[in-house]
Amino acid sequence: MTIKSDFLVIGSGAAGLSFALRAAEHGKVVVLCKDDPLVSSSAKAQGGIAAVTDKNDTFEEHVADTLDAGAGLCDEKAVRTIVTEAPEAIRELLSWGVDFDTEKDGEFELGREGGHGKRRILHAKDTTGLEISTKLLRCAQAHPNIQLLDHRIAIDLITTAKLGCVTEDRVLGAYVLNPATGEVDIFRSDRVLLATGGTGRCYMYTTNPPTATGDGEAMAWRAGAVVSNLEFVQFHPTTFYNPNGKDHDGLTFLISEAVRGEGGVLRGPDGREFMQKYDKRGSLAPRDIVARAINSEILRTGHPCMYLDMTHKPKGFMAERFPYIYETCKSYGVDAEVDMIPVVPSAHYQCGGVATDTNGRSSLRGLFVAGECGCTGLHGANRLASNSLLECVVITKRAIECMLTTLPLAHKMEDYPIPEWQHGERAERDDLAILYHCWDEVRRTMTDYVSIVRTDHRLQRAATRLRNINREINEYYWGYRVTPEIIDLRNLALTASLIVDCAIRRKESRGLHYTLDHTEKLPEAIPSKLHNW
Ligand code: FAD
Ligand code: SIN
Repeated sequence: MTIKSDFLVIGSGAAGLSFALRAAEHGKVVVLCKDDPLVSSSAKAQGGIAAVTDKNDTFEEHVADTLDAGAGLCDEKAVRTIVTEAPEAIRELLSWGVDFDTEKDGEFELGREGGHGKRRILHAKDTTGLEISTKLLRCAQAHPNIQLLDHRIAIDLITTAKLGCVTEDRVLGAYVLNPATGEVDIFRSDRVLLATGGTGRCYMYTTNPPTATGDGEAMAWRAGAVVSNLEFVQFHPTTFYNPNGKDHDGLTFLISEAVRGEGGVLRGPDGREFMQKYDKRGSLAPRDIVARAINSEILRTGHPCMYLDMTHKPKGFMAERFPYIYETCKSYGVDAEVDMIPVVPSAHYQCGGVATDTNGRSSLRGLFVAGECGCTGLHGANRLASNSLLECVVITKRAIECMLTTLPLAHKMEDYPIPEWQHGERAERDDLAILYHCWDEVRRTMTDYVSIVRTDHRLQRAATRLRNINREINEYYWGYRVTPEIIDLRNLALTASLIVDCAIRRKESRGLHYTLDHTEKLPEAIPSKLHNW
């Protein structure tokens, strides 16, 4: 089956949906997502969205905090663009019905997070992402120009070059698996927005949903687009450590940085504050510093976790300001009003991605990328908290404007015939254990060798292991009918390899990339770019 649209959007998070709502004012939009529409990092976001809305705050300060967190690698033009367009993005979110918490006088109640010199985080208690996502989804579902198809898995982008054309290279759409029927459909469009989210599932412990398998990076890479800065994997310093150690859901539940913004103090098992010896900003230092400090305290003390202490706050504060976190901790047997919360770092955010300009335009014509799977240069070597939801909403506004100018709807492009998807010959898989083994091995390799503290030797080991795994997966992939499991695994393993390749090239420690073999920062900050030529 072939489905045509003016715009094809892959992803239903904040980036995908905010783009779809704008694009729908101009033409027919198809939005795909591989699970339910609200299974996304966007829907899990807690802390909020950063924007200068307070009269005592300035764009210059937000820019300075972002550049400082980014450790010299941010693209300053991207930072200035996104920061200055933030208030307009907030107004647009409000127009779609998003409710942020306000003070009695009607002004936004602003939260604070690590690396921010001022209170500038708009939030809806501690479930900001769910508030944004449900409101965008509601608008999208009501829009007559938007067709939202869930449980559809984009397998690969279709490009003119892949079809053998040598005179131009542009995107023509995507092959998409419908797991309900097992069929692979062709979604045709000259304007594609990739908004597939993060890569956190490359690691054993992550805050990310199951959908975060790096599909956007992998698909774009296979289509010949440039990827950038993938070595900068942000570990969130404070995810809940499940004392019963039962399952990884307990390990990966996020304790928002906003908790530290409201006075939470990191302590060791002996109850002593330890962050001051790492950074004068203490528990509110940028994430890379806090995550490394926790990691080093865990290694130094041999204790499996550190603790976040909110017990000094007035009774009822946690339940009122952070109801979701408070209740979830309680369900694990931790009452944050009387107990310190056990925390460990977990993979949280991919600062790199498919390289784009500040309009979300990639190196492949017609392919735009936004949200976590893109890399505009905003985050540099370390993302400032709550800048990512902001980036999703600002970049997609710019992307639709740029698309309409560079690929006008009125201009009819050449209609290349697209061949049907060719399934592998063999019908039944002989051994699913191979898939599960590879899946575990990728995540174990990344966790052991490509984590918060790296070395050349560990990275080389990871590269060798992943090369072998990728070869095995590819042999398996082409022989059989595609399934959701093999698509995820193929993307996960390729993205993990790209992360390692970027990390191996960086012979310095900068932001989130810290290596014992090159502990200094080089004088010049150079983004890592990988070309699939
Ligand atoms: P997502 O919201 O992850 O959406 C990705 C979409 O792509 C999903 O719909 C998925 O199904 C779809 N998809 C993926 N692959 C395919 C495929 N092959 N085919 C079809 N569909 C596909 N940032 C902040 O700014 N503030 C916060 O407070 C904050 N808190 C966070 C808390 C948590 C627990 C997490 C995990 C992240 C948080 N972040 C926060 C980061 C932020 O939420 C994400 O970076 C951002 O929401 C990413 O949005 P997105 O639209 O790019 O991707
Ligand atoms: C958090 O609430 O700590 C997450 C914020 C973010 O990742 O930007």
